[in-house]
Amino acid sequence: MKIAAHHRQDLEKIIKRLDSSFFYYDLDGLKEHLEGLSSIMKEDPDILLWYACKANPLSAVLKVFRNCGFGIDVASKGEIDQVLRAGIKPENILSTGPSKSRKYLRELLEEDIKIVVCESLNQLYWLNDIAATMNVRPQVLLRVQLEWEEGASVLGGNEITPFGEDEKTWLSMEKSKATNLDIIGLHVFQWGNILEVDRLKKIWRKIAEQTHLLAEKLGIEPQVLDLGGGIGIPYNSNEKAVDFNEILEVLKDLKSEFGWEKIWMELGRYAVGPYGHYMTQVIDRKNVRGKELLILDGGVNHIVRPAITGQSFPVELFRESSKENQSFQIHGPLCTAMDNLGTLELPADTGPGDWLCFHQCGAYGFTEGMPFFLCHNLAAEVILYEGNVMIPRTPRKAEEWLV
Ligand SMILES: Cc1ncc(COP(=O)(O)O)c(C=O)c1O
Repeated sequence: MKIAAHHRQDLEKIIKRLDSSFFYYDLDGLKEHLEGLSSIMKEDPDILLWYACKANPLSAVLKVFRNCGFGIDVASKGEIDQVLRAGIKPENILSTGPSKSRKYLRELLEEDIKIVVCESLNQLYWLNDIAATMNVRPQVLLRVQLEWEEGASVLGGNEITPFGEDEKTWLSMEKSKATNLDIIGLHVFQWGNILEVDRLKKIWRKIAEQTHLLAEKLGIEPQVLDLGGGIGIPYNSNEKAVDFNEILEVLKDLKSEFGWEKIWMELGRYAVGPYGHYMTQVIDRKNVRGKELLILDGGVNHIVRPAITGQSFPVELFRESSKENQSFQIHGPLCTAMDNLGTLELPADTGPGDWLCFHQCGAYGFTEGMPFFLCHNLAAEVILYEGNVMIPRTPRKAEEWLV
């Protein structure tokens, strides 16, 4: 993966201006990608894509999704406020998330957000009571946690997680306690970052079949099946990006084969991941017991994903070098061995003062980090929009947030 030539000059200027680690989002590239997805989607109006804004809630990013006609999935009050501030209409907001209190459910309805994925029987009954007192009728999807043969994923896979209820619990639902709600479908999402369309197809076929049976037993019309996210992006050079045309064919077949009227997804990683880069400087280089190490200005304080998943972001040296690549074990600045960005290939002359560019950082970057530990600068955020470079967030020093 290489930074495109037309971004290089901009990035050089930003490095000089900020002199601190930053994210760089190519919103022109994002817009093109979303327009491509929208035109593919036009083929079938019963397949609807939302954006899961937990992936990247920067207001400028949200506005691109809004302008491209995407609704937004929110999972906290902070996300609701941010999305509303970005001009997204309440009717274009979908609410997911395992931790919805009565207070939060009321806030959703007070904000006119009326599509709610209920992740527990409690959430369902609470929402029903609140809807009755407010005289509104929200649309609801029930989130189901299915059993799989084996396997784990950030979304659980076959592990027991807080997401949704199992089939048995939903079958115990007392319909008399949900009379103020329109239950329009079911939601299942347990597998993340999958690049192989055949694997996605296998997972989704099982979901579509099992949820259709469940809907029948529950006496729910099979209107909407929401498959969440899960479409991967390449983090290694030997991996290939997923073509959404292939995904659309799979989704269309699911609908016709299993009798679901509509299929929804709320995408995070696939929607925005490739359009963000993280730039940081090499502070030190050393050889420890035979291994070459690079120590950087920023690490899991800004991009925590490698520490959580064990998977690195692809990296590039931000200058020309004629040297052959060699392996470096790359660490951030935190006083924990967990601050390990992986063992990656870089030119042999990489050293202090060089800048590195990590790719695929547009999703689960800035807001997923652990920015406060050790009191380094918070990462800045820079956007390219309609050919112009803007800096919505400058680097924040610890003195600005420590008390
Ligand atoms: C309910 C829900 N939907 C969608 C997503 C987005 O997933 P992805 O980034 O795999 O597209 C998430 C991510 O955690 C989620 O929790």
